[in-house]
Amino acid sequence: PTVTYVSPDGTERSVAVPPGTTVMEAALDNGIDGIVGECGGAAMCATCHVYVESEHLAAAPPMTVDEDAMLDEASSARAGNSRLSCQLPMTAELDGIRVRLPERQR
Ligand code: FES
Repeated sequence: PTVTYVSPDGTERSVAVPPGTTVMEAALDNGIDGIVGECGGAAMCATCHVYVESEHLAAAPPMTVDEDAMLDEASSARAGNSRLSCQLPMTAELDGIRVRLPERQR
C-alpha cells in the first residue's frame, strides 16, 4: 500500500509501504521530515501526529484510549481528523491514504 505525506508547505511525497508497517515507521524509513516518533510507536509522545484526509478516515483502525489522551498533548492543534501515525499500520484498506503533517511536533 501507498502513503502520501503532505507537508505544511504543500509538498507531497508518496511512498510504498510494506503491509503492517505504520505510517510513522514508513516516514522515518523514508526520511520524511515532520514526523519524529520519539517514543518509538508506543502512543506516548504525540510527535507522530498527522491529519488524515477525510476520505481515508473511516478505513483507519479505531482510536485507543491512550491515543485519544495523547492527541490532547500534541504540539500542533488537534483536529477532528487527528491521529497518531504510529497507530496506523498499513493495510490494503488504507492504500492511497493521504496524511497532512502538522506545523510542528514538539
Ligand atoms: Fe510516540 Fe506515536 S511515536 S505516539
